[in-house]
Amino acid sequence: MRTILILNPKGGSGKSTLATNIASYFALKGKNVTLADCDPQSSSIDWLAVRPESRDTINSSVLKKDRLDVPKGTEVLVMDTPAGITDKRLTKFLGQAQTMVMPVIASPIDMRAAERFLEGLFSLKGTVNNKIKIATVANRVREDTLVAAKLEHYLSHIKLPNGKKLPFMTMLRASQNYIHAAERGLSIFELAPSKTYYDREQWEPLLRWLNSSRSIPK
Ligand SMILES: Nc1ncnc2c1ncn2[C@@H]1O[C@H](COP(=O)(O)OP(=O)(O)O)[C@@H](O)[C@H]1O
Ligand SMILES: [Mg+2]
Repeated sequence: MRTILILNPKGGSGKSTLATNIASYFALKGKNVTLADCDPQSSSIDWLAVRPESRDTINSSVLKKDRLDVPKGTEVLVMDTPAGITDKRLTKFLGQAQTMVMPVIASPIDMRAAERFLEGLFSLKGTVNNKIKIATVANRVREDTLVAAKLEHYLSHIKLPNGKKLPFMTMLRASQNYIHAAERGLSIFELAPSKTYYDREQWEPLLRWLNSSRSIPK
């Protein structure tokens, strides 16, 4: 089973947005997908609840006493996580996934929080790269702003404990497309291609990574 964790302890960074869009992307590819909502705010479950029946089915799963009940036959498990995750829960989440995607917003506060979080994550010896592959995504970016440039610079220069670069996948612009899609239980991949052409292009590097062995530990 392919297991993808979306995590950033900062609220509002785009975890649920990434989780639902990734789940829909794999469902559109014909995979048996389960979207696990580990957040009591249950944005992903709400999204599934309004998802039209005519669309590709995505199974749901919720955390019960820190355990996930994953439906049999699941080929891709996407895990949406809550804000404010602490160390003990973090290790649990990390232990359940091959791949982690971390969205970061272009704001100084979010960048500092990301920096602190990654420091803690990298101090978990033997985890990053050996047990789980991690990549970052800049999210809700207003292009041509100074803070967007700063975020891009920051994310493209983070070093892993082994000295290599932490993969920075892409910048996703701030777009109403994400909001319109979310309202209807859809992803941007299910909106008119003419309206979402630019957003789809921005997703390409992330999807290529998720589809490649580079995002799976050996
Ligand atoms: N790229 C984007 N463009 C526009 N709005 C976005 C984008 N990403 C997220 N949002 C919106 O920002 C809010 C927070 O995103 P969400 O995915 O719920 O974050 P989290 O799950 O990390 O708390 C939501 O209202 C969502 O629709
Ligand atoms: Mg969320």
